[in-house]
Amino acid sequence: MADRRENSPPAAFVTGWPIKHSRSPIIHRHWLKQYGLPGSYDAVAVSEKDFAAFIEGVKNGSLGFSGGNVTIPHKETAFALSDRPDELAKELGAANTLWLQDGQLHGTNTDGYGFAANLDGHHPGWDKVDRAVILGAGGASRAVVQAVRDRGINEIHIVNRTMSRAKELADRFGPKIHAHGLPALEEVMAGAGLFVNTTSLGMDGAESVSFDFSGLKSGGMVTDIVYVPLETPILRQAREQGYPTTDGLGMLLHQAVPGFERWFGRRPVVDSALRQLIIQDI
Ligand code: ATR
Repeated sequence: MADRRENSPPAAFVTGWPIKHSRSPIIHRHWLKQYGLPGSYDAVAVSEKDFAAFIEGVKNGSLGFSGGNVTIPHKETAFALSDRPDELAKELGAANTLWLQDGQLHGTNTDGYGFAANLDGHHPGWDKVDRAVILGAGGASRAVVQAVRDRGINEIHIVNRTMSRAKELADRFGPKIHAHGLPALEEVMAGAGLFVNTTSLGMDGAESVSFDFSGLKSGGMVTDIVYVPLETPILRQAREQGYPTTDGLGMLLHQAVPGFERWFGRRPVVDSALRQLIIQDI
């Protein structure tokens, strides 16, 4: 089989442009060491101009990779260039995890899985609510909308500064999804049991924000997909207003699980040692 070099241990990559800030090598190398598995995981910087040639080298085996992760700005192109994208990737139009199988490049998107698995671990029952509010309608929001819809939450409201982007996302994911502009935020938050921030609001250096969560249901959960800082201003305000919160770091850790299992043959566990390792790096 030309999928990878004969008898050599599996080798996986993470590629993006830039890539040096990716924490994926820390995660996968931690698991390789923890489970004593042969294999390697390396960051490869590939520009948009060179990405198609890189994927060709993965497909024909000349680069020696069994698969890898893809991050910004290549997720859409990775989807377009994979031979066998799965249903999740097709719906998102983006792939973040690739693997060679029987000479074909398969692709999926594990961001939605990572989002849901993080909340399953920290706040079981998070999906047993009638109404969810998702702030933001960018690339990161798509996978969250998909995951929340796939858990069967009845009413999902996307709120975004640019209304047309919210509408586009809502139309893509089906009839239970509603689109709003920012002025409707308070109104749609009333009675919601889940609030997710997918925007860069509150990220390191981003402008300060002020949120009133008092319309949420009692016990309604607030989560952020941003994890630098670990407690974003949105999470801090929610906590101070008496709502349970879950930070976004677990989404990063959990989205790595399906890829590791594909390339290295063992389903890894996200534990507190791994979480601490990444926190030290933040
Ligand atoms: P990503 O792929 O990380 O989601 P993106 O596609 O640039 O990045 O999307 C960023 C999201 O944050 C968008 O929903 C954006 O709103 P717009 O669609 O109106 O641009 C939102 N966002 C960024 N800065 C914002 C701000 N200052 N106020 C409100 N929303 C903001």
